[in-house]
Amino acid sequence: MKTVIEDLKDAVVIVTGSGRGIGRGIAEQFAAQGSKLVITDIDAATAEQTAQEIAKMGVETISMACDVSKYDQAEALANKAVEKWGKIDVLVNNAGITMDGLFLRMKPDQWQKVIDINLTGTYNCAHAAVNHMRKARKGAIVNISSIAAGGNPGQANYSASKAGVLGFTYALGKELAPMGIRVNAVAPGFIKTPMTDKIPEKLREQMIAAIPLKRPGEPDDIAKVILFLASDLSAYVTAQCIHVNGGLAGL
Ligand SMILES: NC(=O)c1ccc[n+]([C@@H]2O[C@H](COP(=O)([O-])OP(=O)(O)OC[C@H]3O[C@@H](n4cnc5c(N)ncnc54)[C@H](O)[C@@H]3O)[C@@H](O)[C@H]2O)c1
Repeated sequence: MKTVIEDLKDAVVIVTGSGRGIGRGIAEQFAAQGSKLVITDIDAATAEQTAQEIAKMGVETISMACDVSKYDQAEALANKAVEKWGKIDVLVNNAGITMDGLFLRMKPDQWQKVIDINLTGTYNCAHAAVNHMRKARKGAIVNISSIAAGGNPGQANYSASKAGVLGFTYALGKELAPMGIRVNAVAPGFIKTPMTDKIPEKLREQMIAAIPLKRPGEPDDIAKVILFLASDLSAYVTAQCIHVNGGLAGL
């Protein structure tokens, strides 16, 4: 049975890093609700291809290259959505990377790049979008954190960035509530995407065996929770994080 969420029809939705993986799954779920989509990624070609494929679902899409770690590109992204459709209803800060390594071998640029994209990128896009949302006194921002925010060995940079995303979400949710803008986070567990495909097979099997629901998550498992957080279904929810991890102990 398909759930119909009325207020997402014709909503203008930006999903960062939506060329592939979870971001693409999120964009497809919004398209199924009739939203207008900005498909954006650092990789312009995948963004354009994904936008064309999603347009076949009968919704309006535009694609744009954007490196979220660059403030001017985040600003241009928000401006493009507003030029095209006059508003931004939903921003999903999904773009993220891993550059794992043991702490003693972690180089400064390995630390900085992950922080720049995962944490500063979230600030950049939120800041640019809120500039428009505040005029409408309405909007929803969903940030993608991770179960790793609780601290994973070999992921000091990534864990710090994703814990930062949570603190950011809690602060911003409270600060923007009087403007009618809600800010929430989703913390995925192990989701099957190109990001987790690069984990060695043996380790991947061990990780999946530890999940109480006994399967890896799919991008759709995350996307459906984001539909909830982006829509009026969660009108009284802000400054929160929903854990979507098949029952794995998290934060
Ligand atoms: N896959 C998982 O198990 C998992 C678990 C927890 C959290 N997450 C988070 O979910 C989000 C999506 O992960 P995924 O598994 O789909 O990863 P992915 O690597 O499959 O996709 C990430 C997308 O982000 C894009 N991207 C990378 N750097 C960018 C930048 N600077 N600006 C804009 N776009 C950029 C990539 O080109 C890619 O299309 C990330 O924030 C990730 O940290 C994933």
